[in-house]
This record gives sequence, structure tokens and C-alpha cells, in this order.
Amino acid sequence: MSKFSILVLNGPNLNLLGKREPTIYGHLTLEDINKMLEDEAKKLNVRLFCVQSNHEGVLVDSIHNALNHHQGILINAGAYTHTSVAIRDALAGVAIPVVEVHLSNIYRREEFRHHSYIASIAIGQISGFGAESYRLGLQALVTELNKVL
Ligand code: DQA
Repeated sequence: MSKFSILVLNGPNLNLLGKREPTIYGHLTLEDINKMLEDEAKKLNVRLFCVQSNHEGVLVDSIHNALNHHQGILINAGAYTHTSVAIRDALAGVAIPVVEVHLSNIYRREEFRHHSYIASIAIGQISGFGAESYRLGLQALVTELNKVL
């Protein structure tokens, strides 16, 4: 019986991974990344529930629905990272431990990507390791959950 259930949330344009700016985001599709995460989840003995949406409100609803269902949230909010007070407030509101991930190193890119509304309410952030950011993020989140729950 797995110990924790983790909500993996992906925001706008991440459904295009594989064909979207591959020099920045790599060649793996979101399905490839989710499969890799499922393999990692088995090793870590956790369950995953993966959601992608291009709509801010759907992401907010998914965060609200995580209450009483998931013990941790792994999120790549895409461009909403840099714009969405609503997603930040939803994460703060449910108070479920969060790890933020990005494929690219957002601090080596345009200035407007340097600020994250999520970072200050997350346990931590992993940015710049491509698909590996997700795996590292999941490992870090589960390590933290094992400490506190
Ligand atoms: C991203 C970085 C964001 O700035 C961008 O808007 C994305 C992807 C990343 O994973 O590197 O959509 O979150």
C-alpha cells in the first residue's frame, strides 16, 4: 500500500512538450515525463495523479480538489508561475506541501521569468535540469513528506 498520493500539476503549453521549442524544453513529451514519474513513484512507493491544463481556473480547482486526497503537490505552472496570484493563493490556501519545478533554468532566461509567485510558498524549487527536474522534484517532495507525515 503506497504511503502518499501526489498531485502532479502541469500548466499552459506543457501539453506541447516534444514539439515546443525543443532547444529549450527538450524532445520528451509530457506523456514521456509522466511515464518516467510513474516509474519513480513505484520506487518511492507513492501514487501519482497527473493533470495538465491550459486554464488557470482549472488549475485552481485541481488544487482545491487536492484537499483530503493528496498529501503533496509537484507543480510546473508554466507561464502562470510568473503571473498567477490565484494559483499561489490556492496553494497557500490548501496548505499542502509543494515543490515547484521547471525544465529550463528560469534565472538564465528573460527577466520576466525570474520572478515566481509560487517559490515563496513552496518547500523548494528545481529549475534547469530538463525532464530530470520533475524526477528530482518528486524525490525531494517525498523525502520532505516522509519527514513530516
Ligand atoms: C517553464 C518556464 C516558464 O517560464 C515557461 O513559461 C514555461 C515552462 C519551464 O518548465 O521551464 O511554460 O515552466
